[in-house]
Amino acid sequence: MRSLLVSCLFASLALSTVVPRARQKVDYSGFKVLRVSLPEQRGDVEAKIEELAAHVLNPGKVEHLDVVVSPDKVDAVKKLVATSKVINEDVGAALAEEGEIKKAEFSVAAVPSESWFTAYHAYADHITFLRDLQAGYTGQSEIITTGTSVQGRTLTGIHIWGSGGKGSKPAVLFHGTVHAREWISSMTVEYMAWQLLTKYSSNATVKALVDKFDLYIIPIVNPDGFVYSQTSDRLWRKNRQTVSGNSCVGRDINRNWPYKWEVPGGASTNPCSETYKGQAAGDSPENKGLRAHVDSLRDSRGLSLYIDFHSYGQYMLWPYGYDCNLVVHNDAQHRSLATRAAAAIRAVSGTRYTIGPACSTLYATTGDSTDYTDAVGNSTYSYTYELRDTGSYGFTLPANQIQPTVRETWEGVVSMLKDV
Ligand SMILES: *[C@@H]1O[C@H](CO)[C@@H](O)[C@H](O)[C@H]1NC(C)=O
Ligand SMILES: *[C@@H]1O[C@H](CO)[C@@H](O)[C@H](O)[C@H]1NC(C)=O
Ligand SMILES: [Zn+2]
Repeated sequence: MRSLLVSCLFASLALSTVVPRARQKVDYSGFKVLRVSLPEQRGDVEAKIEELAAHVLNPGKVEHLDVVVSPDKVDAVKKLVATSKVINEDVGAALAEEGEIKKAEFSVAAVPSESWFTAYHAYADHITFLRDLQAGYTGQSEIITTGTSVQGRTLTGIHIWGSGGKGSKPAVLFHGTVHAREWISSMTVEYMAWQLLTKYSSNATVKALVDKFDLYIIPIVNPDGFVYSQTSDRLWRKNRQTVSGNSCVGRDINRNWPYKWEVPGGASTNPCSETYKGQAAGDSPENKGLRAHVDSLRDSRGLSLYIDFHSYGQYMLWPYGYDCNLVVHNDAQHRSLATRAAAAIRAVSGTRYTIGPACSTLYATTGDSTDYTDAVGNSTYSYTYELRDTGSYGFTLPANQIQPTVRETWEGVVSMLKDV
């Protein structure tokens, strides 16, 4: 009797000390990616699928959705749609191919070497990378911060200038990793900063570009989401903000910008959705900081070029996201810069990009960064890059593709910087 009591007690104790689910890393072993086609009236079916799925990989995509589903829910999802096909049999196995997060070894007070771009890294190491890079070029760079995340992390970047001196030229702004799971974008944006500084004194092309602009480069604008994608759920997209009375977490910071935020159709009002727009325009702290920075660049020296780096799909997109019939006043110039940049990328490695206005080329998005930088930030050019690949690996691009991706993308960006 006593031992039964003891073991009961023990069992309930064990239960009550179980680590909360959110703290454990999601194990995707056996999870599948289903590509499902949606009916004309997608709303209802889409909502049901979102409820069943662990994640929607391409929220907003018009013809089909790619959804990550646990083995026991595959049949329920299939029943909701006319056609479906398994495009990944085991998400857990695919994640294993991505490579471990590498603990970086930094030599004391040295500029990081190119080997940084051969593995994925922890958030703290990304910050060290930026600081070490900046420390090597104190005469022409500074660490900048653009606000604070929900959990109190500082949005950290680097400002680079050339022979004209700090703050003397039109601004260029690069953002990365607004969507937490898009790890290749952190690496790519860092490569831009690394190339601009390390090649400045040896390469005339690079020197001319740095001398022409003040460049502001922020590799991880959603630090909380990024950390969460490393510690808890590799496929996390949003920030980590809560809504009172709802257990779902996260706003999509790239549906939260206060321009055409209220237009229906390009984001979700459901806090559980991957594209939850928030309760009010610009109500995420990350967005507040980023927006204040864009506004201040507009009001000081003006923005020439903004690029928001995402993955995946291999697209170069420009405004507008919120209306598929609207044509930006310099659409032809946007197209010609993108055409040349895409050709420069293709010349490196054969990687092909699809280019066009965001809404008509990919899908409708409201409250997105490039509509804001165009219409409110008055940036001459605003682009979204969707980096490699086109879906074979998706967000979990293997580490051996980091270097090829950052190198080809650099040539695309160089082409744009020359053209602006
Ligand atoms: C300088 O950099 C540009 C851009 O990456 C590159 O195309 C060019 O080949 C480089 N020039 C030299 C001499 O390395
Ligand atoms: C917008 O940018 C153009 C230059 O590209 C400049 O002439 C104009 O004054 C700017 N407008 C505002 C409101 O900042
Ligand atoms: Zn994205």
